[in-house]
Amino acid sequence: MTQQQECNFSTTINPDDATIDRLVAQLLEQMSLDEKIGQMCQSQGGEGHISEHLRMGIQQGQVGSVLNETNVDVVNELQRIAVEESRLGIPLLIGRDVIHGFKTIFPLPIAQAASFDPELVKLGARISAHEAASCGVNWTFSPMIDISRDPRWGRIAESFGEDPLLNAKLGVAMVQGYQSDNLAQFDAIAACAKHFVGYGASESGRDYNTANIPENELRNVYLPPFKAAHEAGVATMMASFSDLNGVPASGNQWLMQQVLREEWQYQGMVVSDWDSIFQLTVHGFADSAYAAANAAANAGIDMEMVSTTYHENIAQLLSDNQLTMTQVDAMVGNILRLKFKLNLFNQPYTEPKKFKALVNQQHLDAARDMVRKSCVLLKNAQQTLPLKPDELNDIAVIGPLADDGYEQLGTWIFDGDEKHSVTPLAALKHELPEHTKVHVARALSTSRSNSEEGFADAVKAAQQSDIALLFLGEESILSGEAHCRTNIDLPGAQEALINQIAATGTPIVLVTMAGRPLTLSNIIDKVGAILYAWHPGSMAGPGISDLLLGKCSPSGKLPVSFVRHVGQVPLYYAQKHTGKPASDSNFVHMDDFPVRAPQTSMGMSATHLDCHFTPLFPFGFGLTYSNIHCRKLQLNTHTPAMDETIYVSVEVMNEGDVDTDDVIQLYIRDLVANVTRPVKELKAFKRVHLPKHSSIEVKFALTKDDLSFYNQRMQQVTEPGKFHLWVGNSSDCQLQTEFELRA
Ligand code: BGC
Repeated sequence: MTQQQECNFSTTINPDDATIDRLVAQLLEQMSLDEKIGQMCQSQGGEGHISEHLRMGIQQGQVGSVLNETNVDVVNELQRIAVEESRLGIPLLIGRDVIHGFKTIFPLPIAQAASFDPELVKLGARISAHEAASCGVNWTFSPMIDISRDPRWGRIAESFGEDPLLNAKLGVAMVQGYQSDNLAQFDAIAACAKHFVGYGASESGRDYNTANIPENELRNVYLPPFKAAHEAGVATMMASFSDLNGVPASGNQWLMQQVLREEWQYQGMVVSDWDSIFQLTVHGFADSAYAAANAAANAGIDMEMVSTTYHENIAQLLSDNQLTMTQVDAMVGNILRLKFKLNLFNQPYTEPKKFKALVNQQHLDAARDMVRKSCVLLKNAQQTLPLKPDELNDIAVIGPLADDGYEQLGTWIFDGDEKHSVTPLAALKHELPEHTKVHVARALSTSRSNSEEGFADAVKAAQQSDIALLFLGEESILSGEAHCRTNIDLPGAQEALINQIAATGTPIVLVTMAGRPLTLSNIIDKVGAILYAWHPGSMAGPGISDLLLGKCSPSGKLPVSFVRHVGQVPLYYAQKHTGKPASDSNFVHMDDFPVRAPQTSMGMSATHLDCHFTPLFPFGFGLTYSNIHCRKLQLNTHTPAMDETIYVSVEVMNEGDVDTDDVIQLYIRDLVANVTRPVKELKAFKRVHLPKHSSIEVKFALTKDDLSFYNQRMQQVTEPGKFHLWVGNSSDCQLQTEFELRA
């Protein structure tokens, strides 16, 4: 009998925390230092095979986790080696970036955010977890809840956009979807809230760049989604690559120890980002791998992803008294605790038979539903949409993204496969009546192409048609990690294409697929309608065609402001008022200045001279095919006491002829406070269904916590005083009331 077989760490299915802690302590007692260090190391899988190096590492207890292996037979073999051939038989965490679907690809996270629908996002994550778990994955590096206010940053695609509340609600929904009610469930996987913290504030939207965020802004804007994920029980967090106020997150003791462990009492596991501990030497924060491991371990990064500074240096750090065994045990304990919670000691293997088929109809239907709810109708002049197929004899379908099953999937689709994609062209051909002739012209080989060679065919197609549907935007590779842009107009010759099609006089519907909010000012007047579809995933075609053909109404809302010009960045709705706020009465465009105007004669307010101060489309904005209004905004009290709940109600009317969903949003402004507060802050939202010619009452409740913020002393407080409150279906809603909170 091997030593391994004498140890038995099987548990009942749902051991309580105390039992798990006891088991962890027992296991730690039996572990050698090398085995403890091994648990802290995450190695790369071989994508389909097991290298001798990895096999030996696992046998010797030197690997706690493997990432990027999704062949279930290989994963089961990895687990078998860990369980049967290592001394203590500790199973492995198998990590994978399941970001917006595993095989069934859902819309990008930024698109999911546009649904403003936590239940739908949760369902997407549940399906993704089920599919990933069927291949042996038990840990995803998602959700990404980095506040993202810079459309140049490629990773805005992976984010839930600019708002703390939306990020918090959708981050929690994803965590709940991945983890289910019980991590021990056979198809639950551990979630990972990333990137802790401030990665989205990379200077100039250039990936991996420095982030400088004052502590007050960090606490009021960037930390709340992570706190919410923690409170929802997220199993793991990932340290950001970036340098936060001079201290890279992977070695940031203030962040990882004081905020995360002490203030929040987070008990879960923290993983580094890819190579980010070694990169402390590249940042100029550590002068050697030894120093990098020292900084990261003392910050409390439990597991090192890919780089090997822990493997090489933790023992030396202990003997040099730079680190204590108590610290090491705490870090290893965090890792082991997760393995117990995932029930891996009882069930290290994956039985594919227990799972539903990958990419089954139910999963595809959910993906299609998410496409319908995440596309945002930005413009619809003269009711260009929905199309009226009976009246259309000829339709032109133009553009490089109309029939490209790969590009519609978007970034981070390691396990996605375009063979499951249904493209817009395929769906339209399927859905349109037989009499409608479809004239297809790709026009450009890619979204980046500058060649106008294909334009003549496209112009001809438009000339022959009653309407031209243009599928333009950005191909997948133009957003995502390390794919940032300074110019966020439609790339290549796409604007020129729009101009030429517009010159035919055929009305244009622009369907934009992109991983970021692009600048649309140059072309907005050339097109009749814009449906912003982001990268919608496997079911782009059916979902978009449902919307274009009016089978359902668009109801997505922008999770991020659309700037008029990239020079406005960062521009977000929750900006501060400033001492000289811009307004229409004090804004003068430079084209309208008299020559030699005296220096102080033109407004002196927080504007640019060459661009209006508002966004092209504000946060929370999105049209439907109907006509939605809010009225009768009522509060139960206008002078609430501090501990009193404020009940808000509003009547929402669908005055149009179309059934639709809409997202009703509640914003507040705290007029005077110890630190300046945003001009508007989203405090609640509800997606509601509104049959045509109907009205419903929508209710919200606000408590003291909802009105709180961090003050100059970094204390979370709610201050008495006056507040404005708005309700509507966009952040520029005008239906307003006010209340005065009593001390
Ligand atoms: C990314 C993480 C990701 C990790 C593992 C890194 O480059 O920043 O978000 O989870 O790679 O693939």
